[in-house]
Amino acid sequence: MTKSANTSPHEDRNADSSVSSIELEQQVFGDDPTQVRDTDHYTREYVGGFVDKWDDLIDWKKRSEGEGRFFIDQLKSRGVHSVLDAATGTGFHSARLVEEGFDTVSADGSPQMLAQAFSNGLAYGGHILRVVNADWRWLNRDVHGEFDAIICLGNSFTHLFSEHDRRKALAEFYAMLKHDGVLIIDQRNYDAVLDEGSGSNRTYYYCGDQVSAEPDHVDEGLARYKYTFPDGSEFFLNMYPLRKKYLRGLMRDVGFQKIDTFGDFQQTYTESEPDYFIHVAEKSYRESSELNDA
Ligand SMILES: C[S@@+](CC[C@H](N)C(=O)[O-])C[C@H]1O[C@@H](n2cnc3c(N)ncnc32)[C@H](O)[C@@H]1O
Repeated sequence: MTKSANTSPHEDRNADSSVSSIELEQQVFGDDPTQVRDTDHYTREYVGGFVDKWDDLIDWKKRSEGEGRFFIDQLKSRGVHSVLDAATGTGFHSARLVEEGFDTVSADGSPQMLAQAFSNGLAYGGHILRVVNADWRWLNRDVHGEFDAIICLGNSFTHLFSEHDRRKALAEFYAMLKHDGVLIIDQRNYDAVLDEGSGSNRTYYYCGDQVSAEPDHVDEGLARYKYTFPDGSEFFLNMYPLRKKYLRGLMRDVGFQKIDTFGDFQQTYTESEPDYFIHVAEKSYRESSELNDA
């Protein structure tokens, strides 16, 4: 039987916005899910069954093989020691960073994802992750210290629905980095999704076997994806379809200098081909002639 996570408010006691996100067992999207375009809403999406299923979606072993040493090498080649994983999720990158000897702090705005991350850290190698429940918009208030690097991976930045919130989050990241720090943000290739049209057959499969992630609704202000699991359960995420050039421009505006953008971990690619872009943004001052603004 297919269990839809998209219940309407009168069917779902958790739809009451007074219910804390830590208590929510089902995703809440209300009567018109395509109208949910709100930065705060992520704490009502990463809940209950979806959190339990997240690790099926992104099968850790296959993900690790797919990424290889890309992030580790980016960090080590810059002499990074301390890292803030700003979008910890269930802890995949945090655990990997700890294993590689980085001094790691694991932040996330979803308490349910963080709880899962903590137990995953213990299960995979006995790591005690230093978890902090923090929203990016208030990062400097809730996480203390300066970091050589901040990572925000797994297409997480896409959860910010207003430019105001994107600028604020980037400014918070910038402020928490040391003078020569580096920010790594990845994003789905929404240019391809938007330009091929919402009716396109472009279907994305995550690493987990038989778990599919496909667009349910796409317009310039919303990319709503449906995640279907082998047991028939379905979950949704509402995200803002960031265009690559736009996000690079925002990073430049808040002060990042050299920004390298990789496509599916490769330096050279055609624009529509990669599923993901990865931006590696440095804070160290560069002459404007050295900036790569493409
Ligand atoms: C798509 S998951 C990715 C998790 C993990 N990085 C991965 O790759 O598996 C996005 C994560 O970003 C977090 N998140 C979204 N918006 C946030 C915000 N404004 N502040 C803090 N965390 C946020 C969510 O709670 C969720 O755990």
